[in-house]
Amino acid sequence: MSWSRLDRRLHWIMAVLFVWQFASRWISSALPDDHGAVFHLNGLHSVGGYTIFGLGVWRVANRMRNRRPPLPGSPPMQRLAAQLTHAILYIMMFVQPVTGMLVSGEQFGGPPYAMQYLHNAGGWLILGLIAIHAAAAAWHHAVVKDGTLTRMLR
Ligand code: HEM
Ligand code: HEM
Repeated sequence: MSWSRLDRRLHWIMAVLFVWQFASRWISSALPDDHGAVFHLNGLHSVGGYTIFGLGVWRVANRMRNRRPPLPGSPPMQRLAAQLTHAILYIMMFVQPVTGMLVSGEQFGGPPYAMQYLHNAGGWLILGLIAIHAAAAAWHHAVVKDGTLTRMLR
């Protein structure tokens, strides 16, 4: 059993969007505040985040309807680590856009500074998990050679 075409498309579109979320913020914070691109980069950061939320709803609904291919036959601790990583990534598809929206609201006198902290910490959490996740995929591909990466590609 493999991932459906929809599963694969949603996974990779979302991976690109996550990269954009980091790139847009990092580029805009490296530019001087009065640079013309800052406004647009920040706007496109919000659009990217809301798109992740929307695609996340679709992805979770689709995942609940269809069973996923079985996890590779790795040792139990590795399977647990994979499930935990996937679960937190799914949760962050919704939590991160919400804290982001509240950070934006804060600039208009909304909820307190805590949201900025949560959104930034969420960013680091996601970055760490994606690094572990991608390294695990590379490990399965190059060392274990069990087709885990290829079934997400085609
Ligand atoms: C999954 C979606 C998102 C991801 C992965 C993400 C990630 C990030 C990251 C990495 C930063 C930079 C933190 C830093 O400077 O250290 C950031 C900042 C920010 N994001 Fe997002 N974000 C997402 C969604 C959103 C959304 C939907 C909005 C607004 C509608 C938003 C608004 C902001 C704002 C205003 C900041 C600047 C916060 C500050 O002043 O420190 N984000 N985001
Ligand atoms: C270079 C980047 C990436 C690679 C190589 C990669 C690779 C993979 C592979 C091979 C699988 C299938 C695992 C299996 O069959 O058990 C998978 C699943 C998954 N990926 Fe990625 N991925 C990447 C980026 C991302 C990003 C940025 C996210 C952010 C949300 C993400 C979220 C997920 C989730 C949640 C699953 C689990 C699906 C499920 O069990 O329903 N991936 N990834």
